[in-house]
Amino acid sequence: MRLLALTALVLLRASAVSADSFVLAEHCPPSFDRGEDGRCHLASLYQLYVAAPGQGGLRVPLPEMKGSFTPQQIDLGRLLFFDPALSGDGRVSCAHCHHPDLGYADGRRTAMGGPASGIGPARDGGVELPRNSPTLWNVGFLGRLFWDGRAASLQEQAAGPLFAADEMASTPEHVRRTLSANATYRQLFAQAFDRSSNQQITVDEVTTALAAFQSSLISLNSRFDRYAHGDERALSEAELRGWNVFRGFVGRCAQCHIPPLFSSDDLAVVGAPPVPGQPYDQGAGALAPMNAALKGAFKVPTLRNVTLTAPYFQAGQFATLSEVLDFYNSPRGHALPAGAGVELHWHIHMKESELSAADVADVLEFLNALTDTSMAPQVPAAVPSGLPVVPRLH
Ligand code: HEC
Ligand code: HEC
Repeated sequence: MRLLALTALVLLRASAVSADSFVLAEHCPPSFDRGEDGRCHLASLYQLYVAAPGQGGLRVPLPEMKGSFTPQQIDLGRLLFFDPALSGDGRVSCAHCHHPDLGYADGRRTAMGGPASGIGPARDGGVELPRNSPTLWNVGFLGRLFWDGRAASLQEQAAGPLFAADEMASTPEHVRRTLSANATYRQLFAQAFDRSSNQQITVDEVTTALAAFQSSLISLNSRFDRYAHGDERALSEAELRGWNVFRGFVGRCAQCHIPPLFSSDDLAVVGAPPVPGQPYDQGAGALAPMNAALKGAFKVPTLRNVTLTAPYFQAGQFATLSEVLDFYNSPRGHALPAGAGVELHWHIHMKESELSAADVADVLEFLNALTDTSMAPQVPAAVPSGLPVVPRLH
């Protein structure tokens, strides 16, 4: 009996790449309701709140999501996100650097591109990229993407890694041709975009589906959220103290990491240390050399699921959250190279140890309360190209 079941399973896996075994979801993912327009719209208690988005408040409305998509587009994006067929050599998928078991980041200080892309230690054939892979949780709310904020939408962003020689090394022609040559994908794209399966698949459709999937990565169900919605016992005493330091006058963290997303679309100069042996990363300043205020400015990253996404900062300069707190609790500009000439944000602390050791310990406790992966989408067991899906880590 056991053997039979096993054989059935093997057969199922082997046939998983045939056209009819991929069926796109007809229902919206959890956290979304299907609207009359057929698209999935976020359903969250935060939308009931009307408070002005004053920083540090508890019941603050969420910003609008930047796009809305059909269940089929979201589900197709899930297959594409995990499919290495999109890359030039068929070996790298988005999930290699945005791994579901690593908070949709990769656990590396900076990303590894090229044919040996992805998680784990440096490997032959890999190209060390200058920046850290950010998490993708709640990315659908963001109006600025990349550490320097250079992309304004997920659709625009996706072309970055797809066509960068040192990331997925693909070309628009390669993506169109490879996917259009696959009968399963032709059928799935026809379904998701409501058109005939005889048509060529376009890059625009691919980036739309990828944006759809990424927008479905919602993390708004942490213990912090339960507390915000009225469950007073959801946070421990230390976490509650940490929250008050985080949002309070001394901590000032919430001025930039604004609840409920704990991020913002702003760029800020906090004075991150340079990476030894690397040129000083000027962030958004490199894109706007005439704007002195942007020199050394980076997008304020989300702190949702931050316990899962070490190392931290734009080049993984800090291995732990405790190191990050030490950085913030040291005098302004202490980590900058001499003569960096950057204008630090006014909310960055002036002096050493403005937070006591107990405050720091409490803030670290509080950051744990922002962890929630309960709405994690299912990692596909197989993708239509038949290429291997990135291995699970646990
Ligand atoms: C080789 C590793 C690698 C691969 C493969 C990769 N990424 Fe990334 N991703 C990164 C790095 C590094 C950054 C940050 C780059 C920067 O800011 O300059 C990033 C940034 C992003 C961002 C911006 C997030 C934010 O908060 O600003 C999104 C969205 C994203 N990637 C999605 C994707 C998608 C979709 C794919 C597949 C088409 C993909 N990535 C493939 C490494 C990778
Ligand atoms: C002036 C705005 C500002 C303030 C105030 C601020 N941050 Fe940040 N935070 C940022 C920016 C910008 C970055 C990215 C910096 C970089 O990569 O160089 C960042 C990065 C981080 C990271 C790393 C996240 C990641 O995924 O890499 C953590 C953790 C963090 N901040 C926590 C805090 C805490 C805790 C406080 C309060 C003590 C705080 N921040 C205060 C703007 C701010």
